[in-house]
Amino acid sequence: MSRCIRIILPIALLTSAVIDPAHAEVPAIIPHPELWPALAHTSIDPAVESFVAQLLSQMSLEEKIGQMIQADIDFISPADLRTYKLGSILAGGNAAPGRNVRATAQAWLHLVDDFYRESLHNGGPHASIPIIFGIDAVHGNAKLLGATIFPHNVALGAAHDPELMRRIGEATAAEVSAVGIDWTFAPTVAVARDARWGRAYESYSESPTLVAEYAAQMVTGLQGQLGTAQFMSSGHTLSSVKHFVGDGGTLAGRDQGDTRISESELASIHAVGYPAAIQAGAMIVMASYNSWNGLKSHDNRYLLTDILKQRLGFDGFVVGDWNAHEQIEGCSKYRCAAAILAGVDMLMAPDGWKQLFQNTLVQVRSGEIPQDRIDDAVTRILRVKALAGIFKRPAPSERSDLAELGSDAHRDLAREAVRKSLVLLKNDHDTLPLNPRATVLVAGDAADSIADQSGGWTIDWQGDHNRNADFPKAVSIYAGIKEAVKAAGGSVEFSTEGKYLKKPQVAIVVFGEKPYAEFEGDRETLEFSPNDKHELLLLRRLQAAGITTVTLFLSGRPMWVNPEINASDAFVAAWLPGSQGNGVADVLFKSGHVPEYDFTGRLPFSWPNTAMPVTYQASGNVAGAIYARGWGLDYEHKISSGPLSENPAIPQHWRAPIGSLFHAGHAIAPWSIFVADGGDEVHLTTTRQASPNSAVTVQLTGANGAAKAIWSGAGTGTLRMSGRPLDLRSAAARGASIELRYRVDDPPHQSVKLGSSLNPMLDLTKSFKDSTPGEWRNMSIPLSCLANQAADLREVAIPLAIETDGRFAISISNVQLTNKGSTPVLECNRATTR
Ligand code: BGC
Ligand code: BGC
Repeated sequence: MSRCIRIILPIALLTSAVIDPAHAEVPAIIPHPELWPALAHTSIDPAVESFVAQLLSQMSLEEKIGQMIQADIDFISPADLRTYKLGSILAGGNAAPGRNVRATAQAWLHLVDDFYRESLHNGGPHASIPIIFGIDAVHGNAKLLGATIFPHNVALGAAHDPELMRRIGEATAAEVSAVGIDWTFAPTVAVARDARWGRAYESYSESPTLVAEYAAQMVTGLQGQLGTAQFMSSGHTLSSVKHFVGDGGTLAGRDQGDTRISESELASIHAVGYPAAIQAGAMIVMASYNSWNGLKSHDNRYLLTDILKQRLGFDGFVVGDWNAHEQIEGCSKYRCAAAILAGVDMLMAPDGWKQLFQNTLVQVRSGEIPQDRIDDAVTRILRVKALAGIFKRPAPSERSDLAELGSDAHRDLAREAVRKSLVLLKNDHDTLPLNPRATVLVAGDAADSIADQSGGWTIDWQGDHNRNADFPKAVSIYAGIKEAVKAAGGSVEFSTEGKYLKKPQVAIVVFGEKPYAEFEGDRETLEFSPNDKHELLLLRRLQAAGITTVTLFLSGRPMWVNPEINASDAFVAAWLPGSQGNGVADVLFKSGHVPEYDFTGRLPFSWPNTAMPVTYQASGNVAGAIYARGWGLDYEHKISSGPLSENPAIPQHWRAPIGSLFHAGHAIAPWSIFVADGGDEVHLTTTRQASPNSAVTVQLTGANGAAKAIWSGAGTGTLRMSGRPLDLRSAAARGASIELRYRVDDPPHQSVKLGSSLNPMLDLTKSFKDSTPGEWRNMSIPLSCLANQAADLREVAIPLAIETDGRFAISISNVQLTNKGSTPVLECNRATTR
């Protein structure tokens, strides 16, 4: 069968006067250190300082640089530590013993123990320097099977209960220590100011005050009370406060984006968690991926050194984020003096650690990085290790306690946290509390999904491939309801689609966001499920049948759900409650507990009245909210609200056509642009990014502009778009295509291939050569051209990639998946496969 590519002839370039915030002017900044609190240096203990100085004086340069590097377990084996005396090991989002994310706790402990024991061989003339092992225990030690999964931070913010935070910190530390792990990459103290951000759920609140209060309590819970014998005693774990700084303030909520605000806003809104955490004993701060007014945090000497280390009195160490140093202009993941010079003390170099080690050595020997910067960094790392008792701890296998993992006490605490985090947004006609003796229907995609109620950073990075069997001893929301109703003598039917045999008195419909993490969770608008309204239709159908509807909405952020609220008699924001879904039924039903549980959760974020995020005004007012922060009903307070507006009010210029990947000058969330060469790729998070070896550079040309990609001819360079894997099978069967609006700026010098992930690459050299330079055109590539067989289209992570070895330049103003067809012009060419 012959398949075709279509070239559509040039149409006049659309212009628009709308300013895209992503391309707004960068304000000029004159540093104002006085805007930050001047804090005393408190973690200096003379005995520790002399121990560290002595140790440092006996270390070789290789040993020092080793301390400054952290590798990921997927890319290093314990035995490597005999040759490379690294300071730390991490298990990243997808990493696990034997690359099995469902490994047993025993397997984790063995691995951690092996790394520890190998690290002891670094003794030489001086004391051995044990590694510290880090993990993202951001809502409990949730990568481990059988761990207690606490509600995500957004939910904890709703509890407004700092003391609860301390207890959750203690329980988390116990579960991290259970397998001998020393360090968690938590708490996140971001103050999210645009809920479209894919990490909004990692933020406790839009309120800096609440974030600061929680930061201190969480650090205290994890590490133990500073200044007492409890501090870093057995069962406690190092915390790291992240991400310094401004991660919650990026333009349009783009993950890893640019935070374009004044220094006073940075200090008074986004940074308030740091002084609080440092004063509570936090000794590690993680630098952020985001830029501040165009400069990457990892490259910002003023913020990392002058402010954090000097002004805020921080004597611990700064750890970099996952290969974040590669985003600095002139750096790659294998080489980056700039980050070290700016003040990053330990680089998170998951896969590139070995080359980074070699290159850093060369850079110190050549004088590019001064010796005293190295000595300062290593002093900080050793200081933290000494203050945390790392030199004196027994081996992981001798201090672990597997019984702590998922213990009943921790599960009870998580269940309490769930009860306290539920926010009642609507309760007309006293729908709640429900009578547990009623006839109840439980419906909705998320009702019996522990994965959905746990969200991202659960078992693996995205948390989107888990089944209930992966959560031993956890309780789904449905299971909790069933238990409560059965115990009281009521009856429950369960059907995701809301079917029933016996007409229920009440239907509890549980639905919401599917799990995501980081940039994969970025969104263009806050409209819940813009292209699939089946949950809304279900609510309307139930209501039309005279059944009372209660919605339990699971989400990592406030969203625009006005139509769903209108179609519900009662509506509860349940966030991402984690493993103890039974905490929901505790509050929903008249339980017979004395006193009865009531809704005590209050909104930690303003809830938007349209699909666009609320805005924060200098006066402190929030515009665009339908429910203000702090709002929440309870059984005492009955407020009936009339119907809410069902107009999402998305401005025309922000409304990308369905299926858009790139439109109006920016990649459409959750899609991102990456540039790659030599097997490595870098994420475009500013307006310009070169691939690691400069084979290809991409640049955003401005509002309603294009992504201009320039291949230098220095090796094979690839431009790709990726986001969340798409199932394109049915689209392909319908004859859908990928449409590209492009302009060749410099014709290809070698062959140019276009394709999608791991599938045949089409040779498009001729089409690009035939396009008149400077002229805009459209190209339509049927999805069926991009796959050998339909099955390949099941999980397409990279819908579009363009690759060449030679010089070439192209501007792309639009990329869209579309059902539209147009006149076939070219053969679907399959000359190349890879
Ligand atoms: C995230 C951090 C995390 C680290 C290690 C990064 O991508 O931004 O928050 O701690 O990975 O998994
Ligand atoms: C890792 C995460 C990391 C992320 C960053 C993932 O593969 O597992 O730890 O945060 O990449 O892109």
